[in-house]
Amino acid sequence: MYNSKITGMGYFVPDNVVTNDDLSKMMDTNDAWIQERTGIKERRWIEKGSGETSSSMGAKAAKIAIERAGLTKDDIDFIVFATLSPDMYFPGCGVQIQEILDMPTIGALDVRNQCSGFVYAMSVADQFIKTGMYKNVLVIGSEYHSGGLDLTTRGRGVSVIFGDGAGAAVLSRTEDNNKGILSTHLHSEGKHARELVVEAPSIAHWVPQILEENDPNDESYYPYMNGTFVFKNAVVRFSEVIMEGLVKNSILPTDIDMFIPHQANLRISQFIQKKFQLRDDQVYNNIMKYGNTTAASIIIALTEAWEKGKIKDNDLVVLAAFGSGFTWGSVIMRW
Ligand code: UT7
Repeated sequence: MYNSKITGMGYFVPDNVVTNDDLSKMMDTNDAWIQERTGIKERRWIEKGSGETSSSMGAKAAKIAIERAGLTKDDIDFIVFATLSPDMYFPGCGVQIQEILDMPTIGALDVRNQCSGFVYAMSVADQFIKTGMYKNVLVIGSEYHSGGLDLTTRGRGVSVIFGDGAGAAVLSRTEDNNKGILSTHLHSEGKHARELVVEAPSIAHWVPQILEENDPNDESYYPYMNGTFVFKNAVVRFSEVIMEGLVKNSILPTDIDMFIPHQANLRISQFIQKKFQLRDDQVYNNIMKYGNTTAASIIIALTEAWEKGKIKDNDLVVLAAFGSGFTWGSVIMRW
């Protein structure tokens, strides 16, 4: 039996910084509200017309990850790509990466688990490596949110939160069973699918129908979030799934060297930190700079924390996420 461990990581965010004050010129919002409710000071949004997409950002992050793993694109056996903002309705972004990076005709899988996407993608990659099927799997989380947000006051409850960006990790086979991914834990509760959703375009509400109806009040193609309900579920599920991982590995919160929560809201991260009585140096947050980048948030934060020297050999690293679906999950790793 093999284990999988991260051998390389990278991230990419667009240069274009959008501050809370910038948003207050587009809609009725303000810096104080956004910082107080979410912790966000600014986010990166793709410059319109730049041609950047979820795939192109993902490819940039992936190149860094592959290089840092000491590999070349030809050493990668499989691609797992997590996003809710793909370049096309279909095919998915995984195949775009295969093309952009000029990789051999390896398999490419897209994961549609929104904020839990990176955790799900890591778990998928881990299974392929643990069974011995693949040696090096490229896992990407990338989001181009800004192109699909309602930037009027109507959409302010959602649009001030989300940012664009991408992160990537190479998961590689290790024969050291004490290192790498120790366990992953995945959950879903589809009865709450409509609490955080983009409903259209879908086969039930297809583009010709939207155009024919020409309804100025149609919000179905913008993200909808029942923020308070999502928040309340998030803090419960985050706690449960972290505890599940700790129990499975017979470890205590005090054993955690680094906890990287999905960057949904600084208040959620702080709630979890308090609940597990973690010190500030045991948790890494960067939502202040990037907003919520959904499937990319954990890997951007993990890479940044590692670049800052906050993750060292043998550290116990915990990742956890909750989001649309509802879906949630955790990854317990020994670095
Ligand atoms: O990543 C996936 C998972 N997502 C999450 O976990 C997010 C969970 N939810 C949240 O983070 C929070 O619920 C939000 C940040 C989305 C909202 O914060 P909240 O404290 O739950 O505020 P609220 O939605 O209850 O809104 C409070 C007030 C409302 O006004 P009234 O009804 O009290 O007069 C809103 O209309 O704030 C108003 N409001 C805003 N005001 C200024 C909503 N959005 C804004 C805004 N600027 N951008």
